[in-house]
Amino acid sequence: MSQDPIYPPNREFTAKASVSGMDAYRRLYTEAAEQPEEFWGQLAGEHLHWFQKWSHVFEWNPPFVKWFVGGKTNVSYNCLDRHLNSPRKDKVAILWEGEPGDSRAITYTELHRLVCRFSNVLLARGLKTGDRAILYMPMIPELPIAMLACARLGITHSVVFGGFSSEALKARIQDLGAQVVITADGGWRRAKEVRLKDAVDEAITGECPSVKDVIVCRRTGSDTPMQPGRDHWWHELDAASQDHCPAVELDSEHPLYVLYTSGTTGKPKGILHTTGGYLLHATMTMRWVFDIKEEDVYWCSADIGWVTGHSYIVYGPLSAGTTTVMYEGAPDTPAFDRWWALVAKYKVNIFYTSPTAIRALIRQGDEWPAKHDLSSLRLLGSVGEPINPAAWEWYHRVIGKGRCPIVDTWWQTETGGIMIAPMPGAVPLKPGSATLPMPGVLPEIVSLEGKPVGDDQEGFLILKRPWPGMLRTIWGDPERYREQYWSRVPGVYFTGDAARRDKDGYYWILGRVDDVMNVSGHRLSTMEVESALVKHPAVAEAAVVGKPHEITGQAVCCFVTLKKGDYSHDILGKELRQWVAHEIGAFARPAEIRFTEALPKTRSGKIMRRLLREIVTSNSVAGDVTTLEDMSVVTRLAAQHDED
Ligand code: PRX
Repeated sequence: MSQDPIYPPNREFTAKASVSGMDAYRRLYTEAAEQPEEFWGQLAGEHLHWFQKWSHVFEWNPPFVKWFVGGKTNVSYNCLDRHLNSPRKDKVAILWEGEPGDSRAITYTELHRLVCRFSNVLLARGLKTGDRAILYMPMIPELPIAMLACARLGITHSVVFGGFSSEALKARIQDLGAQVVITADGGWRRAKEVRLKDAVDEAITGECPSVKDVIVCRRTGSDTPMQPGRDHWWHELDAASQDHCPAVELDSEHPLYVLYTSGTTGKPKGILHTTGGYLLHATMTMRWVFDIKEEDVYWCSADIGWVTGHSYIVYGPLSAGTTTVMYEGAPDTPAFDRWWALVAKYKVNIFYTSPTAIRALIRQGDEWPAKHDLSSLRLLGSVGEPINPAAWEWYHRVIGKGRCPIVDTWWQTETGGIMIAPMPGAVPLKPGSATLPMPGVLPEIVSLEGKPVGDDQEGFLILKRPWPGMLRTIWGDPERYREQYWSRVPGVYFTGDAARRDKDGYYWILGRVDDVMNVSGHRLSTMEVESALVKHPAVAEAAVVGKPHEITGQAVCCFVTLKKGDYSHDILGKELRQWVAHEIGAFARPAEIRFTEALPKTRSGKIMRRLLREIVTSNSVAGDVTTLEDMSVVTRLAAQHDED
């Protein structure tokens, strides 16, 4: 074994775990690797409801895959209806708390009723299977209700995170060609109203001809102008609706949702997930990684606007019949113990969050969690970015009281569900490692030529085989899908992450190898920020890199050259930060704007981001710079920082 500290599963946990001990994990893993059809076919039959059975488990025409070919099912039916003939019918499905302190406990029976009513609202607006809906909402129960209603009817949804600006929203509505936008007047964040309907108006007025209806949920009650004919209040439509709405029998490959994520260009990619395979992946990982028990209260603190919320607040937990907690607001409102107060209040057993959140809470001190009874917790999770061992140890000691295993889960918007993570009753943990692959996941670490590298060698993380929750394509752009994921190393899925595998076969994810930054666990492309910056009238050129940041993992750092003119760098710096927030969203606001006379470029004119990354990381420049056009630019940029 290697020198890293190891935490074997504790005996009490293992005794009750659904996958108990390494032999059980290895058996599952080997079976999935050697007999994928039998393995997945059996699980799909056991864990999901099908209106009609499939003819083949999968069909792989690289790079396109279909799962459960010919099968008919419905995600909303699996998350709701099938629980109603069981003791789960009166179980709480969603345990919600608003930032101001209001709360709701919605049982499976009630959630089913609310979803049926909203499905009928959509039908009454003329929407049908195959149409598209954009959901731009706060973290309120109506968001999963709208998602499940769309899924019920086969309307493909795309949730746009409420932190995205109207510009970003517009681009997504246009790319998807959505017929309906479902939103709210606003939501609460840090005791302030985030006005969502205003952003929708700004996005669509005159610019999104596909949108026929805007449905607005009343959350904050603030003054909200409504455009007659186009805009409708959710509660008014609901008043005329009915409780009964059968789930449509959909093909296993029916498009469930599109989720936009940052790629390496300025244009976000619409990642398409479909029905049967995706739901099976989300459901099985809920069991394997979160070891979910009937009586568990489970809380994933993500926002549903990101993939984590799709798979592990809504679809995975509800399909598994779990009580899933949803919290609307910020972790520091009204004080830094809000999350711990919620854990104590709802007796949360499983808590899943991001390293950024953990690091931010560490900074506030141990007195905040110490105020609350956290003894209900039995399992902790982490997602979105590498967790540094110090943050891992704190999470383990201060939140888990040394008792709770931590599942560090590696996956991506594209993978649909967790890919590398420990099964907590089986796999010994090493802080900082996502440990071992899930059944059916065949990773490898390779050089750019596609050759496996040795133990402990850094290389590119690739996946050798299609899996059930895999993205099917990029919405409207199958060529980009092929080129982005299946061409770098021909025939295998290129994750865009660097990693190493140690002698025990454990995976250590090292971060992105492309021009994608990871800020607070949110993906942001350097090109997206650059395109936003060059739209500003004063900016000639921009180059953006991620700068290591103690809390958020990376921060956005921009190098900017200006057009001729007389500018105050101070004022313009502030303006540009605000500009990016307006173009993309507040979470993308740059931490730093550095003005420079020129950007370092190769002779062929490509900006050398690697050098800029080195400048922001270490302020020294090493490596091969012979292709630089003008080395003095780099020295000046580095020197400029020394003066700061
Ligand atoms: O770089 C990896 C990092 O987040 C990227 C995926 O981002 P996104 O599609 O936004 O999905 C985030 C939530 C699933 C990956 O390419 N990442 C995610 N989880 C981990 C991670 N890096 C290290 N360890 C993780 N557990």
